Amino acid sequence: MEAFTDLDRQGFIEQKERFLDVFHTWFAAEHRNLPWRDLACPNPYHVWISEIMLQQTRVTAVIDYFLRFTSELPDIHALAEVSDDRLMKLWEGLGYYSRARNLKKCAQVLVNEYGGELPKEPEQLLSLPGIGPYTAGAIASIAYGLPKAAVDGNVLRVLSRLLGSRADISAQSTKNAFSGLLDEILPYAKNAGIINQAFMDLGATICVPGGEARCGKCPLEGFCKARKLGIENELPVKPKAKPRRIEHRVILILVQDGKVLVDKRPGQGLLAGLYEYPGACITQKQLEDYERGVSEKRALKVYENLFGDIGLNAKKACFALRSKHIFSHIEWEMIGLYVETTDTYNAEALAEKNMYFAEAGELKEHFALPGAFSAYTNAFLGRRGETDGSH
Ligand code: ADE
Repeated sequence: MEAFTDLDRQGFIEQKERFLDVFHTWFAAEHRNLPWRDLACPNPYHVWISEIMLQQTRVTAVIDYFLRFTSELPDIHALAEVSDDRLMKLWEGLGYYSRARNLKKCAQVLVNEYGGELPKEPEQLLSLPGIGPYTAGAIASIAYGLPKAAVDGNVLRVLSRLLGSRADISAQSTKNAFSGLLDEILPYAKNAGIINQAFMDLGATICVPGGEARCGKCPLEGFCKARKLGIENELPVKPKAKPRRIEHRVILILVQDGKVLVDKRPGQGLLAGLYEYPGACITQKQLEDYERGVSEKRALKVYENLFGDIGLNAKKACFALRSKHIFSHIEWEMIGLYVETTDTYNAEALAEKNMYFAEAGELKEHFALPGAFSAYTNAFLGRRGETDGSH
């Protein structure tokens, strides 16, 4: 299905000056104050970092990460030189960790080939690691004022309503059509970056999804075809997401003398290069069985079977703490297997297997453990708090 008819396109373009003027005035009065936004003098590095963080992540979740990241890595050179472990620690909990690895790769290219600066031209931006059409458009327009569209999910929703479009917004052809339409009108804006940010703010605060569009407050109500037709809450059209694959896992919390065992995940695949508590796939039936509470003897046996190759004998073992984590395509249903050991371990031999016994302080400051394991980290830190009296 076409994203919009020629007639709708023409109608939209004919009123572009009034549209841009109304939208600009609204943004001047109503924009959100965000730490990466400097409307008078945008910082390209801040624009880039924030746009990458904001992919798949909400503004409220990003703010603290952005402040911490840019205070520790204030410019492209600092980012190019940061260690991988530190980078992951700064990104810990934000998810989609390849975004961070691409940021560093990109910073290194910028230092080596672009004099340590982000280029202005969208074509050059597009050739850089981790920068796709949306981010290239956002940097070119917000940081440098160039008339380039930056069309993400929020902007697609706003545009599909403005044009009353029933085209599937997940289709590349729809994205191209909307992006092309914006590219046609942005050269007439006083500042294309402002208009792109106005779309982002409108999509986040007024033209929201889930049948809750606040059309009464919308500066664009008079321009909106969906509103005219009363179909604003039927749009945008997008296919139902595929159900996620469910994996059942047992997560080993192996404790010795107030320290917990972590290992580093492989450099490729899900959560690549991050730390984790060792884990193994089990069946749903096993998970339900463990959750019902099996004897210590069984827990010891499971430890031996699944994790015996770590080479440390268990003193106590039990199952506890169900938790769940949702990734984009997979869901982990987890149960903890708590094990205490008194065996003396050889730190060097463990390190060869990328395994470390971490103290609470190191867990907080050094090892980047993804949000998938928060329940277990919190339980470990809490349990320590009870036994050593510190909080
Ligand atoms: N979402 C994506 N990019 C954004 C930005 N620059 N400001 C606010 N929300 C956004």
